[in-house]
Amino acid sequence: MTTSHGSDDAAAQIAAQQASAKRHMWLHFTRMSTFADHDVPLIVRGSGPYVFDDRGKRYLDGLSGLFVSQIGHGRREVAEAAARQGSELAYFPLWSYAHPRAIELAERLAGMAPGDLNRVFFTTSGSEAVESAWKLAKQYFKMTGEPGRYKVISRDIAYHGTSMGALAITGLPGLKAPFEPLPAGGVRVPNTNFYRAPGFVAHDLAAFGQWAADEIERAILREGPETVAAVFLEPLQNSGGCFPPPPGYFQRVREICDRYGVLLVSDEVICAFGRLGYYFGSQRYGYQPDIITFAKGVTSGYAPLGGMLVRDELMEPFSKGEASFVHGVTFAGHPVSCAVALANLDVFEKEDLLGNVRANEAAFRGTLEKLNDLPIVGDVRGDGYFYGIEMVKDKATRETFSDAESERLLRGFLSHALFEAGLVCRADDRGDPVIQLSPPLTCTQEHFDEIEQILRTVLTQAWARL
Ligand SMILES: Cc1ncc(COP(=O)(O)O)c(C=O)c1O
Repeated sequence: MTTSHGSDDAAAQIAAQQASAKRHMWLHFTRMSTFADHDVPLIVRGSGPYVFDDRGKRYLDGLSGLFVSQIGHGRREVAEAAARQGSELAYFPLWSYAHPRAIELAERLAGMAPGDLNRVFFTTSGSEAVESAWKLAKQYFKMTGEPGRYKVISRDIAYHGTSMGALAITGLPGLKAPFEPLPAGGVRVPNTNFYRAPGFVAHDLAAFGQWAADEIERAILREGPETVAAVFLEPLQNSGGCFPPPPGYFQRVREICDRYGVLLVSDEVICAFGRLGYYFGSQRYGYQPDIITFAKGVTSGYAPLGGMLVRDELMEPFSKGEASFVHGVTFAGHPVSCAVALANLDVFEKEDLLGNVRANEAAFRGTLEKLNDLPIVGDVRGDGYFYGIEMVKDKATRETFSDAESERLLRGFLSHALFEAGLVCRADDRGDPVIQLSPPLTCTQEHFDEIEQILRTVLTQAWARL
């Protein structure tokens, strides 16, 4: 009797929570109409690389939440660092003041970053970090006698955030259209999708990389170098399904930026903090940015935090007389978030998570590449613990799906089926249809196998339905 009452109570609680979620929640980038006849997926708990729903079902978190949970879920020492900081000093602003955890974190990040990126400007998110980098570039050039430089170059299909400025840098037309007109100055160039490279460079990765980098120079010349402030690039572009940079690409981009006095911003909101086996993605690919934007993995999601790391030289004009960077947000560098970030980085060091990624990335790639025997798998690409799997209708011709097929395949079947099968990942059609994977950095072969087996089953079912 007790058991049956217990399970009745649990069922009633789940039903009440579902009803409340459907009545009051507004989920991001979500078709809320789907919840008319589906439950809202409700994740209540996490442990290591796994999360659990309201019914106790376990899922492998193959996306680290949203490219966030580098150290995995349920780390007591990180949660305790938050609690300790909350009782010592829960909040004080970085407007005119500093606090110890922000200072310690800034020094630690500066020590980890490449070259002379020694200044840290904290934010609360990635969009704010990108927004801040653009504002810094604009104000910097106004203060240094080049007030006409305001434009920003970024790549097709690249995602750089959703606030109005960051959205103007984002290269996804569908995300921007409802909010036009956006701030002026966003300029697009081709990305480094070698699988879909133009014919004249389709068989030569180095030539493709040179062409893609030179497209940045052509854009600068077309716009007028005296109007261009910065180039925003992810080390490895996420949106579109993991486009790694061809060898030499970033070295050439660096030369081009130097030639025209344009700042190189490395948007590492996803690629920093071990995702590619290094603290920063720019270190993996061997280039020196002027600004790095970061968020997500800096705290592994135990509290929100973002920011930008800035070269000493860019700070120079702001360090004199009456000058100041006329920008800030209330919760930037929140003491609890900074304490969490420090505890998160302690875990990185204690468990050598960068070493784990470097030691296992070949095995991760090899395991995912087994899926190449499926007719629907066109391309498996990425680096570190960050992969995209592009799905195609015809492997030989690389023909992709029509919009209607994509809709049926991704939204109608795959997203739901993968989750049902116990894998959190992302089926994305913002470019060609891809599955995105970015598991916690603690994962090893058993997790790669689990990911591969679930993908194999579900992708086979998807192909049969086409
Ligand atoms: C490269 C990149 N930049 C910026 C952002 C925006 O970050 P946030 O969602 O924290 O505002 C994201 C988010 O996924 C991102 O991937």
